Amino acid sequence: MKRRREETVTSNIRKLLKGVKTLAITDKQFGDTGKGKFVDFFAGWADIIARGTGGANAGHTVDIKGKKHIFHLLPSGTIRGNEGKINVLGTGMVLDPKVLCEEIAILEQEKICTDGIHVSHNAKLVLPHHILIDRLREHSGGNIGTTGRGIGPAYEDHYRRIGLVMNDLLNPGDFIEKVHKNIQAHRREVESYGRKLVKIVRGNMETLCALKGRDPMDSDGVRNLILTDYAPQLTSFIYDTDGLMKKWLGKKNILLEAAQGDLLSIDHGTYPFVTSSDCTVEGLAKGVGIPVDAINMTLGVVKAFYMTRVGGGPFPTELGGETGEKWARKNSKESEATSNGHVGVDYLIGDIEELLQGIAIRMAGDEYGATTKRCRRIGWLDLALLKHTTSLTSSSKRNGSNVILTKLDVLNDCEVIKICIGYRYQGPTHVVARKIFTATPELLACTVMDEKILSYCEPVYKEFPGWLSDISKMRSRKELPKKLLNIIHFVSKVAKVNVKIISVGPERDQTIFL
Ligand code: GDP
Ligand code: IMO
Ligand code: MG
Repeated sequence: MKRRREETVTSNIRKLLKGVKTLAITDKQFGDTGKGKFVDFFAGWADIIARGTGGANAGHTVDIKGKKHIFHLLPSGTIRGNEGKINVLGTGMVLDPKVLCEEIAILEQEKICTDGIHVSHNAKLVLPHHILIDRLREHSGGNIGTTGRGIGPAYEDHYRRIGLVMNDLLNPGDFIEKVHKNIQAHRREVESYGRKLVKIVRGNMETLCALKGRDPMDSDGVRNLILTDYAPQLTSFIYDTDGLMKKWLGKKNILLEAAQGDLLSIDHGTYPFVTSSDCTVEGLAKGVGIPVDAINMTLGVVKAFYMTRVGGGPFPTELGGETGEKWARKNSKESEATSNGHVGVDYLIGDIEELLQGIAIRMAGDEYGATTKRCRRIGWLDLALLKHTTSLTSSSKRNGSNVILTKLDVLNDCEVIKICIGYRYQGPTHVVARKIFTATPELLACTVMDEKILSYCEPVYKEFPGWLSDISKMRSRKELPKKLLNIIHFVSKVAKVNVKIISVGPERDQTIFL
């Protein structure tokens, strides 16, 4: 039975990927849609698995036989190191040497071969003071809600042309000179926060950076830390990956793994509440050193029929609105589990029923950050936003609107499913590209990618009866409840997406080809 099922899956993958040599898995929302599961799923087909953007802000989970593997930097294909896969950390990434060493060490402990790990010589370095600066900004009124992993400051240094790269680890002389200059360039900003705050933030960083008592602004200390503790473990993994990727293109099966999500893209997301890289397929291709039109197929991962967001920023369909965000910011998995539905006086302002439904979905879907453990904010699936992210990639039939819907099992017990089909703008007069927006009952069927507009949009929903049965054990389309298939059909039609696969649980085999 198990063998027959495996053969069916292999044949489905072969059919879907007929003629494909380069496949990209991207995220059509605010991250955490389940990319890790699907990179691992398709990694069996791939020879090369490559990440091209972001850094340790990512948390990609692969569940195998009940065991969770969470990757922050390494591509999710590294779990298949013993199958001889090559895993690339591309030029567009920002790498924290400590996290990289730790993830490699975990694989070695688990007896997973690490020989296939290839780190770009031009990937950017995240140094302890980047983490310090990221956190100081957040502590001093920053409302982005970053992951505190130094991502923004590291990318800023790259564009300011003062950053360090992996290759500097191979040339200690260059490293020493550059690190000194780089730290100097940040001294004034760090001092502006005052000694007291720097001391507090540094104290919290100790575990994250293994500073071992060193000051992140002391270039001699940082130099010793990186060159002595980390560089020796990393140098053998450094390659010209851009050159290799170009050589492999069209010859090997290549799987690209996006990080974050299209709506967090610095270029196409809900700016300024975004990360500091382009998380779309364009950014991904550039980050691994290949042209985007070399990608034969993109599969965009979409959480359904709810979605999540971590950190600040507009989220029109958020359950409980501002109250939902406030609750998510103040609570943790532990406090939520012991709250037993008691939300306290602070939270009685918004729509309490919605807030409670959001909490219930978060608990059912285990929606707590894989990197920061924060409560993920919960809202209904927003088709206006999905249309926006689909439009970023739908230039060709093969390369555009194919999606994978994940986490459908989470809503097994949900009586009514709401899908957002557009908004009514209810804010003050605001101009976007010379178009004047004023509060109006008219339906906006497409997203206007403007923070102010999105913050004042009231979602309009179409409601569907839930399927009220356990789909997590179903393995084929014909077993699926009709009510669920109806909603999938509606989403496909309105957002103009091709739903290729659905996911009914975190494990590899909880995957259904449609
Ligand atoms: P990523 O950042 O996109 O890789 O996603 P994360 O790993 O941060 O979060 C997705 C979570 O959902 C992980 O814990 C996965 O194991 C889990 N997951 C993935 N697909 C499904 C699914 O279909 N159902 C359920 N219940 N969990 C899933
Ligand atoms: P994966 O790859 C969800 C969010 C942060 C914050 C914003 C900026 O697991 O889907 P940053 O630290 O990047 O400067 O934070 O982006 N963010 C993510 N949210 N999943 C992620 O990655 C994220 N990476 C960054 O919460 O709002
Ligand atoms: Mg994640």
